[in-house]
Amino acid sequence: LFYETIEKMCTQVKEKLSLKEFCKNEEITAIILGSGLGGFANNIEDVKSIKYSEIEGFPITTNTGHKGRMLFGYINNKAVIVMEGRIHYYEGYSMKEVVTPIYFMKLMGTKKIILTNAAGGIGDNFEVGNLMMITDHITSFVPSPLIGKNDERFGLRFPDMSCVYNKKLQQVIRSVADRENIELKEGVYLQTTGPNYETPAEIQMYKKLGADAVGMSTAVEAMVANYLQIKVCGISCITNKAAGLSDKELNDEEVKEVASKVAKDFETLLKGII
Ligand code: 6GU
Repeated sequence: LFYETIEKMCTQVKEKLSLKEFCKNEEITAIILGSGLGGFANNIEDVKSIKYSEIEGFPITTNTGHKGRMLFGYINNKAVIVMEGRIHYYEGYSMKEVVTPIYFMKLMGTKKIILTNAAGGIGDNFEVGNLMMITDHITSFVPSPLIGKNDERFGLRFPDMSCVYNKKLQQVIRSVADRENIELKEGVYLQTTGPNYETPAEIQMYKKLGADAVGMSTAVEAMVANYLQIKVCGISCITNKAAGLSDKELNDEEVKEVASKVAKDFETLLKGII
């Protein structure tokens, strides 16, 4: 009864926030903000918000860097649904629960989604503070969120993943970065389960496999959004070099600090894309 459960969540949120007008928009864009990138929410006009905990059955974030709120409003007159904080597998949720917000966004009428995160840099000329447009991903080290009975109302049993990150959206992101003079790397994002960071040996393995950035989210969300025929794009903020690529130890404080430092470029980029 997964479909019906998601439908109920939508009905509940639409009623609670009086979103009748909002849902008439043909083009709703969803944005998921990663750790330290929450400041972007200040750009939303006509904003209505709801805590995840107020939506029956919606998974709740346990992370300190994540607010656990969903916002509905407008940026440059475009309808947006913004998630401040996401659900992670390492919090103990199942992968199905982790991607529940993506199903929710779909039934709310979302046509495009912008995924963001903080990630460790692996790519050769990646520096701390760089932004990276995600061109592809590796989910092979985490369970698929699509395991289980398939509901054809959502998508195909065996969905194609040969082009998860929409090419046109990538062109848009690149042109906004050029216009705004924002340095933008690009590359492959690899998702781990977390919560631990990697060992240097693991990072060497991921590098050999073609990863340019590593993090604990995003790729399974992109997979499900693609399955649901939502157009997907993603941007990583490289908050640190991955293990063994610098002499620094990794910690969450550092990750959040760097993310908030590049927040300005990041916000400019996001607004431009929208
Ligand atoms: Cl180095 N690894 C993972 N898995 N996630 C991260 C990270 C590293 N840096 C920020 N997030």
